[in-house]
Amino acid sequence: MRILFLADVFGSAGRHAVEERLPGLREELGIDFCVVNGENVADGRGITPKLADKILAAGADVVTLGNHVWARDEIGPYLATSERVIRPANVALGSPGRALAVAPAVDGTPVSVVNVLGSLFLDVARGMFEVLDDIVEEARKKAKVVIVDFHAEATSEKVAVARWLDGKVTAVIGTHTHVQTSDARVQPGGTAAITDAGMTGPHDSVIGVEADLAIRRMRTGMPVRFRPAESGVRLEGVVVDCGADGRATAIEALRVALP
Ligand SMILES: [Fe+2]
Repeated sequence: MRILFLADVFGSAGRHAVEERLPGLREELGIDFCVVNGENVADGRGITPKLADKILAAGADVVTLGNHVWARDEIGPYLATSERVIRPANVALGSPGRALAVAPAVDGTPVSVVNVLGSLFLDVARGMFEVLDDIVEEARKKAKVVIVDFHAEATSEKVAVARWLDGKVTAVIGTHTHVQTSDARVQPGGTAAITDAGMTGPHDSVIGVEADLAIRRMRTGMPVRFRPAESGVRLEGVVVDCGADGRATAIEALRVALP
């Protein structure tokens, strides 16, 4: 099975890139299942029901989120009923939505997708290791192929979680930092991993935001309203190959520049 994971889709430039290129990419690359991280789709922070539906309609089988999950008020009720748009497992107890989606690949094989937030340098309601094993266990009961979107800031934590889950899941895909790392690898136990899959969005920016605005806020420490940038758009992510047993056989970083 061949799985495409598109990293953090940022703003309308990122979303348009997904709508324009994902159907063709699925075809060209022979993709059986596609996961898209959509936590920055709504102007760089969060997602709305309408935008989530657009990403699904463009060819995502499952949409994952991250630390900006609650940035838009209207997403709570949507997540409460959605089976394909998931939020991190370690949000506050009782929050709407689920952290595990199980959806069929093209040939009907079930694929589990899990979303977890890192604990380091992020404001999390519950520590990541408090929830990780249980959600992974649940995912493994439902499918042999298990994809973990580990949405985290710290490289050390992302590498540690990839090692901890080696042999237990098909892939641990790091998201959140928006800069693709050069460490895509299949670990000895058969779990593919990358520290960060990158960003699907405007790379002529500071991780998606108009550079001038991001720099001004950093230089002055004063509030500056961020606007998503628009140019230098690339789709970034990874393509993971795995067997029917769920063991990864290959992982390759993907970078597709839009003309
Ligand atoms: Fe994030």
